Amino acid sequence: MKKTKTKFFYYSISILALFIFIFLFISYVASISVPSHALKIAIWLAISVIMAVAITYGYTLTSSTIADAMFTLRRMIRAENLSNPLLLRLSSEAPGTYHHSLNVSNIAQKAAKAIGANSLLVRVASYYHDIGKLNEPGLYVENQSPSDFLAEENSAAWIRSNAKKIISHVESGVKIAKEAKLPNDIIEIISEHHGDSKALYFYRRAQEKKLKIRASDFVYSGPKPSSRESAIIMLADCIEAHARAVQPENTEAINNIVETTVHDKLKEEQLKDSGLTTKEIITVSNVMKEALLAIYHQRINYVVKNEA
Ligand SMILES: [Fe+2]
Ligand SMILES: [Fe+2]
Repeated sequence: MKKTKTKFFYYSISILALFIFIFLFISYVASISVPSHALKIAIWLAISVIMAVAITYGYTLTSSTIADAMFTLRRMIRAENLSNPLLLRLSSEAPGTYHHSLNVSNIAQKAAKAIGANSLLVRVASYYHDIGKLNEPGLYVENQSPSDFLAEENSAAWIRSNAKKIISHVESGVKIAKEAKLPNDIIEIISEHHGDSKALYFYRRAQEKKLKIRASDFVYSGPKPSSRESAIIMLADCIEAHARAVQPENTEAINNIVETTVHDKLKEEQLKDSGLTTKEIITVSNVMKEALLAIYHQRINYVVKNEA
């Protein structure tokens, strides 16, 4: 569509240039002394053509931008609905991932609002960031039962193969999202939500068991988050997963989860292409601490009460 409009613009300008050239050429070859009123008419004609092209081009460009924005917004509103077939599938086939995604959405949206990022995009993209886990939900810790842990092996081949499967949820997520015609901004966030970090659970296990492994087998293919929204979801995702694993029982434990996650992501340079400023990262951290505290509020109160 854009290409057609650009072509139309260049064709119009070319026709105008040709018109002026032919007019001057004929006048020169035929040695016609151009009457001043004819020259004026030609100049006015040329100005009119330029203005007509500019107005038409400006109008079509603006109207297509508005149409594109409306189209994206419509798709975003459709995706936002928790009754969306993909989200219904996630809730029934991978309930742990679904619950994790809702928590990520809650934490990330608050952080996005605090720094004036696109909170609607952050909320909706969080719902779908792990949609690729639908291919094999039982592989992921949040959907597993204790008996699944007992079935785990410690061979290098088993660990490598499982790390590869887990890493592939990013690629699968992008494929599923494209098939479902989710907005491009959401697809981009799905592809970036692990950046080029490591699948740490299996990597550390292989290290603990002193297995012969290549670090590159445990690395997500990236890219790193390219927007503030994408970076916020990366942080909220890690923080939620970390909190789920350690089940914090006091404010210090919550603060520690957020600070460690932010520190690690900065150290790995995962946020360097996101456009988040240092000031924004501090605000995001503080808001995420509050959001996580709100999620674990009941549990923390219960523990304090029992201790008293
Ligand atoms: Fe993920
Ligand atoms: Fe996640």
